[in-house]
Amino acid sequence: MSGILLADDEPAFQRLTGAWLRGLGHEVRVAGDGDAAKAAFAEKPADLVLLDLAMPPHHDPEAGLALIPAFAPAPVVVMTGHADHALALKAIDAGAWDFLAKPVDPDLLRVVVARAMERARLARELAELKAQAGTAEDMGLAGASAPMQALRELIRRVAPTRLPVLVLGPSGTGKELVARALHEASPRAGKPLVPVHCGAIPAELLESELFGHLKGSFTGAVADRPGLVETAEGGTLFLDEIGEMPAVMQVKLLRFLADGSYQPVGARTPKTADVRIVAATHRDLAARVADGSFREDLFYRLKGVVLRTPPLDERPGDVALLAALFLRRATDAAARFTPEAMRWLASRNWPGNVRELRAAVECASALAPRSATGILVDADDLAFAVGEGSLPNSGAPSAMRPQSLEEELAALERLRIVQALERTGHNHTHTARELGLSRVGLLKKLDRMGLR
Ligand SMILES: Nc1ncnc2c1ncn2[C@@H]1O[C@H](COP(=O)(O)OP(=O)(O)OP(=O)(O)O)[C@@H](O)[C@H]1O
Ligand SMILES: [Mg+2]
Repeated sequence: MSGILLADDEPAFQRLTGAWLRGLGHEVRVAGDGDAAKAAFAEKPADLVLLDLAMPPHHDPEAGLALIPAFAPAPVVVMTGHADHALALKAIDAGAWDFLAKPVDPDLLRVVVARAMERARLARELAELKAQAGTAEDMGLAGASAPMQALRELIRRVAPTRLPVLVLGPSGTGKELVARALHEASPRAGKPLVPVHCGAIPAELLESELFGHLKGSFTGAVADRPGLVETAEGGTLFLDEIGEMPAVMQVKLLRFLADGSYQPVGARTPKTADVRIVAATHRDLAARVADGSFREDLFYRLKGVVLRTPPLDERPGDVALLAALFLRRATDAAARFTPEAMRWLASRNWPGNVRELRAAVECASALAPRSATGILVDADDLAFAVGEGSLPNSGAPSAMRPQSLEEELAALERLRIVQALERTGHNHTHTARELGLSRVGLLKKLDRMGLR
């Protein structure tokens, strides 16, 4: 709660109004002229600014009007002399949120202030929601489907804890991204995220890789070497392909998970590390437990929390969204899909999940024909990219291709605006009202369409 900034040069008004507002439970700061008000706001923003338009040094209402934008995004309520209705309207035009005529009626003041405070509360809530949406994007885990939303929500909740997380899901569904997102959304974000590909490191080296070794502990150990666990101190250790971890290492990892202690190869005394464990596998770990190739006790230790990355065919709605995202990332030029390409993307199964989709879009966008208007990716380009077609003839001029949905919508919008303008005799206010737009919104559209 940042309170109210009261900008008025009359000491009696400052005192009385200030006391009245404080009596209502608000925190009030006062300023006696425009510069002081701006300085006070810059130092600490307010939820609401009550602004007298005629203040020193000029006592000029126009100078008062010019002050209004300085307090954005806080709502500004201007106070004007009783007869100054025109000035009040000018102030609203200049961005003021409301006005009060002086002498200010205390009851009216109370209502206006209550409304402004409610607005400030909503604005804060909105900013928070936007920040949350921002983190969802920052997570790098795109997808608007319910399972992806649920996954991001779980990540947000689990990230701040120390619980070990087990990420399960088919290949190419984003398990590594989940690990990254967990790390980035945790208080450990400033510390290292260290990935270990358990399947890619030979069994006999894995222990020394993870826990380090002392000089001379085995042939080739010419110097002390810290392990990845130590490198990850304070951060997150991502054990990818945990299902491939050899049995001897499983015991040692279990101990590390139990009390944070481990023994570098060749060392006599154990060391400790503060590391959060995230493990992942595309394998059926429960089946590995059942057939005895994965320790049951380790399995239960690892799955403090289980997060599942859903295969793409359980969230078909995400395909178009992800494809558009990868196309944007793949090229600097303006690029889009033809309607056939969109249909092709939606109708295909994606056994390789997001990884396959991404590779297909990147390849197709590199192959697709380039024209003055940008890159147009067609179904043929995509089919070729996944090895299901021959290289399409890329000479077809894009004007021959069917319109995209965007082009269709733009044309429809233009038509409706032109019709409405004709009906209203080019009256912008009436046209805007008919189209459910603000006047400014309409004017912006007209500018963009070259219709003004
Ligand atoms: N939701 C998503 N949003 C954006 N990109 C994604 C998403 N999911 C996956 N990707 C991308 O798809 C590719 C595969 O993701 P990732 O490597 O995380 O898969 P994985 O589940 O670890 O697969 P594997 O089991 O084969 O290791 C990466 O390029 C990743 O950036
Ligand atoms: Mg992976």
